[in-house]
Amino acid sequence: MAQIIMNNPILIKGSRIIDAGQGVDVVGDLLIKDGKILSAGNTIATDDMPENCRVIAGNGLIACAGFIDLHCHLREPGFEYKETIATGTQAAARGGFTTLCCMPNTDPAIDNAAVVEFIKRRAKEKGVVRVFPIGCVTKGRKGKALAEMEELASAGVVAFSDDGDPVYDDNLMRLALAYSQDLGLPISNHCQEHSLSRDGVMAEGWVATRLGLPGIPAAAEETMIARDISLAELTGGRLHVAHLSTRGSVSLVRQAKERGIPVTAEVCPHHLTITDQWALGGKNSTIDVAGPLSYDTSTKVYPPLRSQHDVEALVDALAKGVIDCIATDHAPHDLASKQVTFQDASFGISVLETAFGSLMQLVHEDRISISTLIERLTIGPARILGPNFAELSTLKPGTPADLVLFDPNRDWTVDPDEFASKGKNTPLAGTILKGRVVATLVAGQIVFQGSELMEQVS
Ligand code: DOR
Repeated sequence: MAQIIMNNPILIKGSRIIDAGQGVDVVGDLLIKDGKILSAGNTIATDDMPENCRVIAGNGLIACAGFIDLHCHLREPGFEYKETIATGTQAAARGGFTTLCCMPNTDPAIDNAAVVEFIKRRAKEKGVVRVFPIGCVTKGRKGKALAEMEELASAGVVAFSDDGDPVYDDNLMRLALAYSQDLGLPISNHCQEHSLSRDGVMAEGWVATRLGLPGIPAAAEETMIARDISLAELTGGRLHVAHLSTRGSVSLVRQAKERGIPVTAEVCPHHLTITDQWALGGKNSTIDVAGPLSYDTSTKVYPPLRSQHDVEALVDALAKGVIDCIATDHAPHDLASKQVTFQDASFGISVLETAFGSLMQLVHEDRISISTLIERLTIGPARILGPNFAELSTLKPGTPADLVLFDPNRDWTVDPDEFASKGKNTPLAGTILKGRVVATLVAGQIVFQGSELMEQVS
């Protein structure tokens, strides 16, 4: 990781410390030294402070392990005009994410050890948070032959996916799942049956009808999830369902888990908080008329934004643990890819910098507890990635000091011009969110600090 802002010991005084995995929820001090958590929860007297210790007033703030994102697009190599590892990791730091797993739909795709090495090197030189590449399932993501999964695993990928596209071929998916068991790494599938989604650009339903846009039925996602569950049962392989978005998908995953099939699932912040009605342009899930602001291309994403009925099922499934974790699917795009007709626009939303603020809406509305939200952003993804990630998802003394400090009640207005990400493509532009990251630390180094923290005298 590059860009060290400071490296002295840090004492965060009097914040609420939530360590979801340890069942810890206390008000106390957090002492960080030599990149690690030295103490969490105890009061540190001035005499016990290490030399050159920076003190941060934590009252009114919450500290927890840094967020882990299982699914984002950093676009490097190949699409640096949309995002780079430098800008994407800066965006992550602003959003409270300390670990990113980046998808392989780059150019070249991440289907061999050389590209994995390139990303790891760039992340070391230019990144401000931890970056772990996800390898392709098939060579070049073309769906014709399996990638060298073992070579990719040895080079350090943490999962496999052809994200942006599904693994269509049933037998290749079967083989990939069988290998995933041997390699101990999950297959994250983008479930989209193209013969059903066809040229659809948003969710099938009354909003698509009113706007005259071709719709994508929920069954395009659900039929492929059903196939994958059946193949996971057959092989015992590790299936991870990427960006699950429909009520029907939730019940498929629930039933599979009840039957003991090794399946996990993620959901994106936008599918939990906004609906297809946002394509009408009113930035609201109650607007029901098409107006001059309709066809807002920043709402175009795959899977598409769904109905309120789906949103409710997703929130409930997240709260109950049927869905294991939240992943951003941060998909930054350049203006030229979005300032076109709805049909021509690229799919994707820039999410890293708004994820936490938008998710806090669920906490403020009492639909999910703050500790469950933190669990699904930290331990939930860490468990899917495996035991090596456990220490990145806790504030236990002795573990790396990857953490986020946030103000749960701070209002802020989303202004994409202030994003570190090159992707300004967010439907949330101009909206007010309640809950803001104040500082993010990776291995004890401050990689982001908001203006409120910079004003503090140490
Ligand atoms: O909206 C999306 N954009 N969904 C995907 O699955 C891929 C992503 C991208 O790469 O832009």
